[in-house]
Amino acid sequence: MYNSKIIGLGHYVPDNVVTNDDLSKVMDTNDAWIQERTGIKERRHVVSGDGDTTTTMGVKAAKIAIERAGIDKDDIDFIVFATLSPDYYFPGPGVLVQRDLGIKTVGALDVRNQCSGFVYAISVADQYIKTGMYKNILVIGSELHSHGLDMTTRGRGVSVIFGDGAGAAILSREEDNSKGILSTHLHSEGQHAEELSLIAPGMGKRWVNDIIADNDPNDESYYPYMNGQFVFKNAVVRFSEVIIEGLEKNKLKSTDIDLLVPHQANLRISQFIQKKFQLTDDQVFNNIMKYGNTTAASIPIALTEAWEEGKVKDGDLVVLAAFGSGFTWGSVIIRW
Ligand SMILES: CC(C)(COP(=O)(O)OP(=O)(O)OC[C@H]1O[C@@H](n2cnc3c(N)ncnc32)[C@H](O)[C@@H]1OP(=O)(O)O)[C@@H](O)C(=O)NCCC(=O)NCCS
Repeated sequence: MYNSKIIGLGHYVPDNVVTNDDLSKVMDTNDAWIQERTGIKERRHVVSGDGDTTTTMGVKAAKIAIERAGIDKDDIDFIVFATLSPDYYFPGPGVLVQRDLGIKTVGALDVRNQCSGFVYAISVADQYIKTGMYKNILVIGSELHSHGLDMTTRGRGVSVIFGDGAGAAILSREEDNSKGILSTHLHSEGQHAEELSLIAPGMGKRWVNDIIADNDPNDESYYPYMNGQFVFKNAVVRFSEVIIEGLEKNKLKSTDIDLLVPHQANLRISQFIQKKFQLTDDQVFNNIMKYGNTTAASIPIALTEAWEEGKVKDGDLVVLAAFGSGFTWGSVIIRW
């Protein structure tokens, strides 16, 4: 059995900065409310028509990760792509990355686990490397939320939170079992599936033919729905549980954590976790202030920025943790 380790990281966000004041021009919201409740100051939105999609952003992040890993694209044995905002209903973006990067015909898998998507994707890639099946795996988290949000006052509880962007990692074989990804921990509770969801278009409740027939401008099922307070309450509990689970599995304590990179759901959630585990500001990486919640992209963007800022060093204990729609949640324990 091998371990896997992250040998290259990259991220890409669109240039277009959307501030809280910008949003207050199109909906009844304000900078003070958004900052107080979420910590978000601004986010990036793809400008319609400028060519960026979930896939192209993922490809841009991947190119940086591949270069930093010091490998060739043809060394990649498998692709895992996490997103809730694919370019097409099907096929998923994994194959589009294989095409756009000109990688040989390796397997490409799409992961549909929203805010936990990157943690799930890393876990999948880690298993393939552990068994020796693959040596180098490209893992991408990318989201284009802005084209699907309700940018009116009706959607303000959701739309001010989410932003666009992508992050990527190259996972590679590590022969020293005390290094790299030590363990991953995944959970779900489908009982709360609809509490944070986008119902239509879907082949279950809303057939495409119904949608076309209805053409109802008041139908909110096309927009993401979030029961914010319920999500918040579950998030703080599940984040804590799954971090503890990962630490205990490796006989570690919270005092051993060098860097926690939580999914950037809400600065208040990160602060709650920081306080609970008695971590310093330096031990928790947050960038939600700049990008909002980019769901599957949030951890790889944050991890890349942390690494670029020299906050991830050889031998550090790095913990990734996520919670989101599904509900799904998970953690990754890494000895860098
Ligand atoms: C979304 C969230 C910030 C909302 O904060 P909250 O304190 O729960 O606010 P509420 O939804 O109770 O709304 C409070 C009031 O603010 C209003 N409001 C909602 N969005 C607003 C906005 N963008 N601007 C101004 N007012 C807003 C509501 O209409 C409500 O008004 P009312 O009291 O007159 O009815 C918070 O619940 C949250 O962060 N939840 C977790 C979200 C999350 O992590 N999601 C991702 C999961 S990974």
